[in-house]
Amino acid sequence: MQGRLITFEGIDGAGKTTQLQWVRSWLADAGWARSLVATREPGGTGIGRHLRSVLLQVNDEVLDDRAELLLYAADRAQHIAQVIEPALAEGQWVLCDRFTDSTFAYQGFGRGLEMGLVEQSVRMATQGLQPDLTLWFDVDPEMAAKRRQDRAGGGTDRLEAAGLAFQKRTRQGFQELATQFPGRIVQVDGNQELEAVFVIVKEILEPRLKQWLSEDLMEVS
Ligand code: TMP
Repeated sequence: MQGRLITFEGIDGAGKTTQLQWVRSWLADAGWARSLVATREPGGTGIGRHLRSVLLQVNDEVLDDRAELLLYAADRAQHIAQVIEPALAEGQWVLCDRFTDSTFAYQGFGRGLEMGLVEQSVRMATQGLQPDLTLWFDVDPEMAAKRRQDRAGGGTDRLEAAGLAFQKRTRQGFQELATQFPGRIVQVDGNQELEAVFVIVKEILEPRLKQWLSEDLMEVS
């Protein structure tokens, strides 16, 4: 049995976290006969939770862009070693809220760091591990900003505070990544009601999951 990694991506306010939770319940309830792990970056481990607060808390001290890149990489290396790899080795399906595409989109396109540096940091953290499938929830940055404002009790974190132009560049980054990796990244129109988006998500996932299960069966027989 082969484990699989499904990642959920998009700009802040894209609705990906809700979709991930719904997918998790749907997969568990529908008895897909595979154990699941739902996790996230940054902050999928105890060490990662410390890193997440350094990364996201608004602070008087300015976090250097390269330091930011390296902290995301550190979070990911720990997360892969402690959570993702062991789960995949047991044949589990891993649902991950953000992964490497976020680093290319945010640190590469958003911050404008040199892509070679971003690639190096990603390679060091992942040692080549790539998602089997990525759902990119594409929303209009202005609409996403409104959603974030409406979010009950939600404060603004450091990346959200980077502004609309930053979110626009980041969205553009996801767009370019989707063009570069059309087999892996599936674009989902996230501008609709969350329930309507979830219908699309299930339509995308169902054939893939069936294919993976039949590949596993072939492996066993
Ligand atoms: P979240 O609130 O969706 O969990 O994401 C945390 C923030 O971290 C979000 O603004 C995106 C940002 N981020 C990056 O800038 N680079 C990365 O590699 C990751 C994983 C997240």
